[in-house]
Amino acid sequence: MSAATLRPMRWWDIDPLLAMEHDLFGSESWTAVAFWSELAQPSTRHYVVADDDGELVGWAGLAAWSGESFVQTIAVRRDRQHAGLGRALLSELLDEAKRRGERHVMLEVRANDERAQRMYARAGFEAIGRRARYYQPSGIDAIVMRAELS
Ligand SMILES: CC(C)(COP(=O)(O)OP(=O)(O)OC[C@H]1O[C@@H](n2cnc3c(N)ncnc32)[C@H](O)[C@@H]1OP(=O)(O)O)[C@@H](O)C(=O)NCCC(=O)NCCS
Repeated sequence: MSAATLRPMRWWDIDPLLAMEHDLFGSESWTAVAFWSELAQPSTRHYVVADDDGELVGWAGLAAWSGESFVQTIAVRRDRQHAGLGRALLSELLDEAKRRGERHVMLEVRANDERAQRMYARAGFEAIGRRARYYQPSGIDAIVMRAELS
């Protein structure tokens, strides 16, 4: 398996990533419109993809307003998980938040997704709250996590 490199997400990445998005998030997938809308706001967004020789194997996005920044999404294609890509994508978002002068980053994660929570905890995130039935239609709660940036 060759190594993937991270690069900015472009509009032409949206189509190929939608099938993977659906595979990973099912009925709670983002739509093409949601991705288009994020890419249309570069002053407050930073979206990257993991690109393996032209093949998209992961993506992640940050929203950063002065004083408030959020991990909007992070995903790795099923057959490329568990090899450090998630951690690399997250690390790129945190670096970008620092470059933009942010002091902390927040995110929501599914309460039943222990793997993602573990990845976030290793990157310095701590659980600070819970939003009941945040994810729809599943009704799964969200754990709100926050990381202080040094
Ligand atoms: C959550 C997600 C992004 C993690 O991506 P990933 O690329 O698998 O993450 P990493 O490989 O960096 O880390 C995951 C695990 O692989 C392990 N790992 C990392 N590098 C490794 C390597 N070289 N060899 C073996 N294991 C490794 C990590 O220790 C970690 O182990 P753990 O799950 O037992 O804690 C991915 O599982 C995913 O896309 N899930 C579906 C979408 C989702 O839930 N997104 C989060 C929404 S909030």
